[in-house]
Amino acid sequence: MNPGALLARSWERAYAALPPWRMIAPLLEHNVGAHGDSVAWLEAVAALPALESADVDVGATIRIGTAAQCDQATQAALRDALLALHPWRKGPFSLFGVHIDTEWRSDWKWARVAPHLSPLEGRLVLDVGCGNGYYGWRMCAAGARCVIGIDPTIVYTMQYLAIARYLDAARPAFAHALLPARLEDVPPGSGAFDTVFSMGVLYHRRDPDEHLRALRAHLREHGELVLETLIVADGCAQVLIPDGRYARMRNVWHIPDTPQLLGWLDRAGFYAPRIVDVTRTTVAEQRTTPWMRFDSLAQALAPGDPARTSEGYPAPLRCTVIARG
Ligand SMILES: C[S@@+](CC[C@H](N)C(=O)[O-])C[C@H]1O[C@@H](n2cnc3c(N)ncnc32)[C@H](O)[C@@H]1O
Repeated sequence: MNPGALLARSWERAYAALPPWRMIAPLLEHNVGAHGDSVAWLEAVAALPALESADVDVGATIRIGTAAQCDQATQAALRDALLALHPWRKGPFSLFGVHIDTEWRSDWKWARVAPHLSPLEGRLVLDVGCGNGYYGWRMCAAGARCVIGIDPTIVYTMQYLAIARYLDAARPAFAHALLPARLEDVPPGSGAFDTVFSMGVLYHRRDPDEHLRALRAHLREHGELVLETLIVADGCAQVLIPDGRYARMRNVWHIPDTPQLLGWLDRAGFYAPRIVDVTRTTVAEQRTTPWMRFDSLAQALAPGDPARTSEGYPAPLRCTVIARG
């Protein structure tokens, strides 16, 4: 299937679940077409070798096929096409023996979050800031009726297409869509979703209250929010507002402590919040690999002091809260 058809199939799944969202189809087309690298990325997706396997494991490593199902030349072509979609941040994946060792061990985050969720069986799920859709496939494997991921970073849509190219045939029942857009671009207030995820997004938003209100307005009554974000340890500061960069990231605006975070959730209308996990990010979980060759967490920490960022702030500490809307 060519990349255009793969994109169309993904978006049709979203429109089938939420017909009013068809109105953003022109914007999605525009977002893909407007990126200067899109032509090269789409060519890389089109160059993926024609392989098929029903031997699939949507587990910690999302694995499709094995090395034995693919000769060496085909495997090299597959690796080249996938590497053209660098940087691979979320995963890991393994396609016909090509192991995509992503920057993040996203399986570790999923292992911390998944045990605390209301069962995803039969649920309509929104994953805001979904990256390449790694978690969306894990959600489908957990029985979600439909997962709609939204993320404006176009290379992640391309990575999603590369995986979907092989996984859709093996798991036709998975209704997993990825929309290349920002949360602000989709029609607001759908009130449609049983579960809404926002993982790793809140601290990138200038107005956290507005983000939380927008998430709540996409939940059905008593639906479940899964919020994962950076925090500071209680007693450090109510809210850390970085002066310039935080862990070398330019776009980090607010890092609350947990009482402040719970206050924001309450103000946005969520109830029954549960903090289900607090974990310090380590250089084992987020690191440079052959599939993400840029600097990573190790370079963002103070030399000799993993408890501090290079700017002198407390090192990344992440919290997952589950609340009802
Ligand atoms: C730190 S990553 C987190 C990815 C993933 N959710 C995870 O937890 O591993 C943040 C993601 O949010 C996306 N993002 C940034 N602004 C966004 C917005 N306004 N709406 C939706 N996604 C956004 C980025 O493109 C990026 O993929």
